Amino acid sequence: MNGQSGLSNRFGPWALVTGASSGIGAEFARQLAAAKLNVVLAARREALLDQLGHDLQRKFGIETRSVRVDLSEPDAVSRLDAAVSDLDIGLVVSNAGTGNPGSFLHEDRDEMLRRFRLNALSHLDLAHHFSPKLAVRGCGGLLLGGAMGAAHGIPFMANDAGSKAFVQSLGESLHIELKRKGVHVTVLVVPPTDTAILAKFGLDPNTMPIKPMSPRQCVEEAIRAIERNQSLCLPGTTNRLMSALIPAGVARTMMGRMIEQMLAKQIPA
Ligand SMILES: NC(=O)c1ccc[n+]([C@@H]2O[C@H](COP(=O)([O-])OP(=O)(O)OC[C@H]3O[C@@H](n4cnc5c(N)ncnc54)[C@H](OP(=O)(O)O)[C@@H]3O)[C@@H](O)[C@H]2O)c1
Repeated sequence: MNGQSGLSNRFGPWALVTGASSGIGAEFARQLAAAKLNVVLAARREALLDQLGHDLQRKFGIETRSVRVDLSEPDAVSRLDAAVSDLDIGLVVSNAGTGNPGSFLHEDRDEMLRRFRLNALSHLDLAHHFSPKLAVRGCGGLLLGGAMGAAHGIPFMANDAGSKAFVQSLGESLHIELKRKGVHVTVLVVPPTDTAILAKFGLDPNTMPIKPMSPRQCVEEAIRAIERNQSLCLPGTTNRLMSALIPAGVARTMMGRMIEQMLAKQIPA
């Protein structure tokens, strides 16, 4: 990765990464640690955070701190803050999230709201809590995790897509507001990426119509984007071409068909 010292100068000494126990979040932690930032690792599975933290300390000579937190709980960000209030955090990577493909007609309301708190409100709370601190520092960054296609809606993932669309709009707005305070804000529009979430969705990376991206490439492009203070980052040339060339209505219908077929395979009629 290029510009490692630049990264720690601008965003150090500490970065906070949510969803650091797996996939894209764990990769963010690795690449930031390689660039000599200390990293707070936040998620629910504390043993995984501790193991990753131990590995990063040994490999890169940085400090880490694990924070067990369930970001679908309403008071999660205040509890997270209590665990990190002594640290000078210059970069917040709000990445934790999930999805649950299925028919909206059968969604349980409580479960739907729990996911909405994780996928939308936790990003809002983290942004609201950390933006003033970053603005006072006059330097720092906020990276919010969205999802490819979400801005136009994804059938059979209506609530999850709506949550990520909220995050995208929030981030693009904050990008302008916080720029004048020296704070970089970037939305990572996550494309299909080879992490544990694919198996949860019932997808096999080997049989998907387009090969999912590696977490490494996704995070490398995201870090470059926030260094340059780009408002949006959609990693991968093919993804950018598809997004530019395929009309939203066509993409939405194709996504809906793909998820419906996947669901039909999981639940025999
Ligand atoms: N991979 C893709 O194709 C794809 C596509 C679009 C969007 N995304 C988004 O990208 C982000 C990263 O996902 P990923 O692909 O890396 O999947 P992943 O490997 O399943 O990682 C998800 C991370 O979020 C954390 N998390 C989930 N629920 C949480 C909760 N209630 N409280 C705190 N942390 C929680 C998980 O940690 P614990 O389980 O330990 O809490 C885990 O570290 C997510 O927001 C996801 O929605 C991914």
